[in-house]
Amino acid sequence: MLRNELDMNKAHTILTGDRPTGPLHLGHYVGSLRQRVELQHTHRQFIIIADAQALTDNAKTPEKIRKNVTEVTLDYLAAGIDPKVTTIFVQSLVPELAELTMYYMNLVTVARLQRNPSVKEEIKLRGFEESLPAGFLCYPVSQAADITAFKADLVPVGEDQLPMIEQTNEIVRAFNRTYDREVLVAANPLLSRVTRLPGTDGKGKMSKSLGNVISLCDSEGEIKKKVKMMFTDPNHLRVEDPGTVEGNPVFAYLDAFDPDKSALEEMKEHYRRGGLGDGTVKKRLVEVLLAELNPIRERREAFAKDPAEVLRILKAGTDAARETASKTLGEVRQAMKIDYFE
Ligand code: TRP
Repeated sequence: MLRNELDMNKAHTILTGDRPTGPLHLGHYVGSLRQRVELQHTHRQFIIIADAQALTDNAKTPEKIRKNVTEVTLDYLAAGIDPKVTTIFVQSLVPELAELTMYYMNLVTVARLQRNPSVKEEIKLRGFEESLPAGFLCYPVSQAADITAFKADLVPVGEDQLPMIEQTNEIVRAFNRTYDREVLVAANPLLSRVTRLPGTDGKGKMSKSLGNVISLCDSEGEIKKKVKMMFTDPNHLRVEDPGTVEGNPVFAYLDAFDPDKSALEEMKEHYRRGGLGDGTVKKRLVEVLLAELNPIRERREAFAKDPAEVLRILKAGTDAARETASKTLGEVRQAMKIDYFE
C-alpha cells in the first residue's frame, strides 16, 4: 500500500527493521530508511535489528552478525533515526519473540512456507535446495512474531518483503480465529515512492553480494568512483547520440535523489534528444549524492567515536521493546489458555 491509500493522520504503530549482515546502502535508504526518519515524529515506531533472522543463513559466522549489529545501529543514527522517539532494539535479546514464533509455527504448514515467493527465491540464491536449514524456512513466522508482538499496523518495507506481511496477516487471522479472540493486529505494508533502486551495474537490485552497491558510509572518493563506473545506456556511444532514460540507472538514482525535479526533466529531454554526455549527468548525480550523504557520514563518524553511547541506546531500546512484547505474549498465552499460574 502506498502512503496516500492509508489514513496517515491517524497515529500508527510502526515496526520495521533489517538483518544486520552488512552496512546499509542506498537501496535501504530510499526503500525504507528515509521514510522511517520522516514518520518517527508522528507515529510510534520500533526498529528491529533482526540478528536472529540473519543467523538463519549465517549460523556459522555469528561474529559477522555481531559486528554488523553496531554498524547498522550507526547507520540508523546517522540517517537521522532519533532514539528519543524511535525504539531501536536487538531481536535475539527479546526472547518473547522466540516464544511467539514457537506458538505461531503450529498455525502454519510447511507447504505454505515453501510457497512463500521471497523464501523460494532466497533458497535458490543460496543454493539451499538440498540443505535447507529449518530455521531459514521458518523465518517468515519469526517475522510475524516481530510485527505482531508490537501490534504494529504499519510496516514500511521494500517490495521484496510483501510476501512476509501477507504471511503475517494469515497468521494473525488464524490465531484470532483459532483462539477466538482479537488479540493480534493485522499489518499494512507501506511502500516508498521508490521501491527498487537498481545496482550500479544496472543488473537487478542493489545487493552487497553482487558488489553493485553504494553504502551509506562510503567515502566521497568511493562515491565518485562508483558513479564514474556506473552502467548507463550502452547504445549512447557519442555525446551527439540520442540516449535512453528508462532502465538507465544514473537516471533512476537521480529520480530518487535529485530535489530539483524540473531541471531533471529537462536533463532527461536533452539526453533523449542527444547532445548530453554521460559525464555531465554523472556529475550532477555525484553532486546530489554528496549533498545527501555527506551529512549522514559526518553524523556516523561522530557517533562512532562513542561506542558506549551506541550500546546504551541499544540496551535502552531493547528493554523498552521487551516490555511491550511481554505484554502481548501475556495476552497470547491467556487466549491459548496456557497462562497456568495467572
Ligand atoms: N526481513 C527483513 C530484511 O531482510 C528484516 C526484518 C525482520 C523485518 N523482521 C522484520 C522487516 C519485521 C520488517 C518487519 O531486511
